[in-house]
Amino acid sequence: MDIYEAMSTLRAVRRLKPDPIDEDIVERIFTAATWAPTGGNMQPWRMIKVTDPAKKQALEDLYRPHWESYIPGYEKKMESMPASVQSSSRRALEAGTYLARHLHEVPVIAVFCYNPSIMTITDADQPRPSVVGGGSVYPAVQNFLLACRNEGLGCVLTTLLCIEEPSVKKILEMPEDWFTCAHVPVGYPVLGGHGSINRKPLTTMMSENTWGNLA
Ligand SMILES: Cc1cc2nc3c(=O)[nH]c(=O)nc-3n(C[C@H](O)[C@H](O)[C@H](O)COP(=O)(O)O)c2cc1C
Repeated sequence: MDIYEAMSTLRAVRRLKPDPIDEDIVERIFTAATWAPTGGNMQPWRMIKVTDPAKKQALEDLYRPHWESYIPGYEKKMESMPASVQSSSRRALEAGTYLARHLHEVPVIAVFCYNPSIMTITDADQPRPSVVGGGSVYPAVQNFLLACRNEGLGCVLTTLLCIEEPSVKKILEMPEDWFTCAHVPVGYPVLGGHGSINRKPLTTMMSENTWGNLA
């Protein structure tokens, strides 16, 4: 599909069918991830394709309580949102709860892993949380999401399981020096799947030459 159409309709799809995905398609979406750039082309990231029912259930058991504890704060935030945004936020919340209860059923969970010791992290010494390391993994995640979009597969980048990283590493039998930064459930959409997105316009996101009026 047209790349601009793919990017502008890549939204979080959290209601996923348990139906299997053709192996050729699975191979294509994982291969697309491998084309991403990384600092110094070190490629300090890996993917684990989780299909084993017991492992998916174990991941869901770790995920669900964190999603449930996230709901009250989100509902509070929703109270101050305009009515038009409230209804879509409510739908997203319900879809999130659906995912939290059905994660074990999705055909594939892609777990993105990284090894910081082989990353070029140029902002490591700045007095703020470092983000550059993520730049050597998340482009691969985005490639993966776009490839799913292209294949008509629903998907969503999730990170709540990072709170449970030691347990996730144990379930996936990961080595000590590798960590996780994204868990992407993939499956055919139950409802409409990808579609229109709600994002800030370019005028509020970019200025020329200086920071200008950006907020
Ligand atoms: C860094 C990051 C972490 C996220 N973590 C989660 C998550 O743990 N669970 C979840 O359901 N969605 C998660 N999301 C999805 C976002 O909530 C979603 O992309 C955002 O609300 C925009 O929704 P839309 O693409 O449907 O417009 C995450 C997205 C990003 C980029």
